[in-house]
Amino acid sequence: MREIFDTKTDTEEVARQLAFIEEGRKIVAELSEKAGRKLTACVVTFGCQMNARDSEKLSGILKKMGYVLTEDENSDFVLYNTCTVRDNANQKVYGKLGTLNAYKKRNKLMKIALCGCMTQEEVVIEKIQKSYSFVDLVFGTHNLYAFPELFVQMMQRDLMIVDIWESTTKIVEDLPIVRKYPFKSGVNIMFGCDKFCTYCIVPYVRGRERSREPEEIICEIKNLVKDGVKEVMLLGQNVNSYGKNLPEKTTFPELLHMIEQIEGLERIRFMTPYPSDFGDDMIEVMKNSTKICKHIHLPLQSGSSRILKRMNRRYTKEQFLDLALKLRKELPDVALTTDIIVGFPGETKEDIDETLDVIRKVQFDNAFTFIYSKRTGTPAASMPDQVAETDIKVWFDEVLSLVQQCAKDRTAMLQDQVADVLVEGINEHDASLVTGRMSNNTLVHFPGDKSLIGQIVKVSLDECRGFYYLGKRV
Ligand code: SAH
Ligand code: SF4
Ligand code: F3S
Repeated sequence: MREIFDTKTDTEEVARQLAFIEEGRKIVAELSEKAGRKLTACVVTFGCQMNARDSEKLSGILKKMGYVLTEDENSDFVLYNTCTVRDNANQKVYGKLGTLNAYKKRNKLMKIALCGCMTQEEVVIEKIQKSYSFVDLVFGTHNLYAFPELFVQMMQRDLMIVDIWESTTKIVEDLPIVRKYPFKSGVNIMFGCDKFCTYCIVPYVRGRERSREPEEIICEIKNLVKDGVKEVMLLGQNVNSYGKNLPEKTTFPELLHMIEQIEGLERIRFMTPYPSDFGDDMIEVMKNSTKICKHIHLPLQSGSSRILKRMNRRYTKEQFLDLALKLRKELPDVALTTDIIVGFPGETKEDIDETLDVIRKVQFDNAFTFIYSKRTGTPAASMPDQVAETDIKVWFDEVLSLVQQCAKDRTAMLQDQVADVLVEGINEHDASLVTGRMSNNTLVHFPGDKSLIGQIVKVSLDECRGFYYLGKRV
């Protein structure tokens, strides 16, 4: 039997958690008074945009409880929001935990918590309990919303609290939030993934696919716009599947059309569509939109049909090429970017050549290239023919250098155009410049000051510097 999922936020649960926030606030105030100073908290985010959004929720709760938020990990409460999509993300967390332990020995008030995708894995929990017993609280992706409640428990007990759920049917939004950028925001439109690509751990740690009601999404975006947001990024592991479990089915292109009508909203991005679910209705809605950004991130993973099949990706090389070339033709100014995995079990040089062929034909505007990482519990982890590291290194460099060449060529094509740029901040290396993004996601730096942050301005693209431009306001 298919589980019935909530599609609306659970207002009773929101009220319960708000009460725990109030309790947490009292505890923090008391400790702070005893210590004679404000307490600080630091949330560190690993992984994707979904985690970034979750961290904004966690930060919002901590702020409401009276913590001063900081980026310094030597603080009174440190929360790692982890990612486990590739092993190096896990290793980073273990490494950093060692440093935290040293801080904790010097600060009696310090508490350490872990949440996010890594904690949904049994092997991780065992390791934390055995080797990292100084951690105070561990919770997962399905009970993130119960953080206020777990926080209060943690403050009342000295033993490590571990609370991991296998799944949830609930959606709990509307708790306090601290947004990283005032002018742009992620918006969850769905949770989880049902695709089960054989290399990928996401379906195991994020659970089954669940969509939110369009009305709730629209309402959230309207409130964001009222609060100064100009650009939203609609988030889901596989956004083209949006709406399948809703009582009244709504498709992703229909949702995009509804969001387009929101007055004051200027830019709409989305992440990530799945190639074989990207239909003509998507192309139509993008063609007719003035707000949907000119960027599609379309993960290829491999250009070899044989490998795609073993990956359980539901398209062939030819189908991907047909789609990508159609997008190039129908939406010529839209940037196409992708993800590629090198070294999947059973991969040979012939398969890599197919991948290179697709890159050459599509001329991706950019690509993230990843070395295959074996994830315990996924089907690919027990495939017999794992590839030698020496081969992977050579192939990876070859794929990366072609991808970079294509990215440079595509960027160069924008020379001397005038583009709308959303200014995101002061340039990190030169304070006389500001940095922003074009609709197609290309970075542009140009003379300006902080008064421009959050504005969309016209900039001439004067000087191409590989993957970005130097320009000036026109
Ligand atoms: N849902 C999205 C992306 C999820 S993870 C999609 O399907 O495109 C982001 C990227 O990480 C994936 O596109 C894939 O390229 C990469 N990835 C996932 N699992 C991996 C693994 N085990 N090893 C290496 N890269 C992986
Ligand atoms: Fe992972 Fe595939 Fe789902 Fe993307 S679509 S999250 S790669 S299982
Ligand atoms: Fe990582 Fe979880 Fe995102 S595994 S990529 S943080 S969904």
